[in-house]
Amino acid sequence: MRAGTFARTRLPLASARLLLRSPSLRDVPALVDELQDPGIARNLAHMPYPYRPRDGREWVRRAQGAARRGDRLSLLIVRSRDARVLGGVSVWPEGHDPSTLLLGYWLGRGHRGEGYATEAVRTILRAAFRRPATHRVVAYAFSPNRRSQALLRRVGFRREGLAREAFYKDHRWLDDVQFALLRREWEQFARDRRGS
Ligand SMILES: CC(C)(COP(=O)(O)OP(=O)(O)OC[C@H]1O[C@@H](n2cnc3c(N)ncnc32)[C@H](O)[C@@H]1OP(=O)(O)O)[C@@H](O)C(=O)NCCC(=O)NCCS
Repeated sequence: MRAGTFARTRLPLASARLLLRSPSLRDVPALVDELQDPGIARNLAHMPYPYRPRDGREWVRRAQGAARRGDRLSLLIVRSRDARVLGGVSVWPEGHDPSTLLLGYWLGRGHRGEGYATEAVRTILRAAFRRPATHRVVAYAFSPNRRSQALLRRVGFRREGLAREAFYKDHRWLDDVQFALLRREWEQFARDRRGS
């Protein structure tokens, strides 16, 4: 098996309130509905807005292809009690080095403030670090995106630095804040949480 594959990851991933599962074309209407929000596109590097059914179909097909190859986890965040799609969460290798993964996530506006994204990110991190090749997970947040930075700190990430005016979006240059979580920090964080 190739180093760094997710082929052994058993899906869906389950947590107390959520299932993280691969998307299907049946999810496209829910995706289009939740992603019709400039506030989400503004905070993500590559999220189209307006979000069209064609964008949803393309994302689903790419996610399914990646799942078959074991390249990445591109999952929907689904509430277990009513099967409602709340958002998305993904991890994928940064470039050709399988030891570093990138993390991305979003939550529909109506589902924030209840800890769902925190729960989903913790769950995908557990799967990410179960993959032996993973040494480090990195996440980027634009500097005005305080909620995302708070989430990353909550799950154990540390701020590593700031790339000044690294991204041009909505007619302005944005600073990009880099966060990372090392395997040993994740293991320590998980031990502390179990002990508390
Ligand atoms: C980033 C984003 C996912 C964060 O959403 P969020 O609702 O703040 O995150 P969570 O779902 O983890 O909820 C955390 C909030 O719920 C509260 N909460 C309630 N129950 C909780 C629980 N069981 N566990 C954790 N937090 C809980 C927390 O106190 C926190 O509220 P606060 O911000 O008022 O302190 C969301 O703002 C978003 O999708 N933004 C647009 C896309 C985006 O920015 N993506 C990231 C790009 S880097």
